[in-house]
Amino acid sequence: MNKNVNLGNNVIIKNERNDFMITEDLNLFLANLNVFYRKLQNYHWNIKGDDFFNIHVKLEELYDQVNSQIDEIAEHILIIEGQPLGTMKDYLNITQIEEAKNEKIESDKIFSAILKDYSTLVENATKVKEEADNEKKYATSALMDEYLQNYGKTIWMIRQKMEK
Ligand SMILES: [Fe+2]
Repeated sequence: MNKNVNLGNNVIIKNERNDFMITEDLNLFLANLNVFYRKLQNYHWNIKGDDFFNIHVKLEELYDQVNSQIDEIAEHILIIEGQPLGTMKDYLNITQIEEAKNEKIESDKIFSAILKDYSTLVENATKVKEEADNEKKYATSALMDEYLQNYGKTIWMIRQKMEK
């Protein structure tokens, strides 16, 4: 698998550590996606104001995308022989996403919150991609490209929506 593997124990240890880092960072990404899914659906329920109908539907579209991503990332961790985190406790222990409150909220506050969260997801995907490229794990790297494209487009649309 790795051309350096026969060069000595130190190299093996180094490569194992790097593989572990990719799995760790994918698990952080997975934890963030899970908490973000709950947050988007919370907002879908609690959106208030005269743009309720549009934003209620849009938030459902966004959390459906995130739900597919959760499954894809967890399965990708298994494909690269890691173990995906699968409990809410694990996710809450490490997540970088701040949960939404149990209260009604206007769309401008929702969009400024999720803009920040999408930037966090971009950072997660970028870090995984950089580590994967270093290890020549090109399937992982290519998968991260899809996420970066998806988040880039969503961030652009949110910014357009927030412009006055
Ligand atoms: Fe609904």
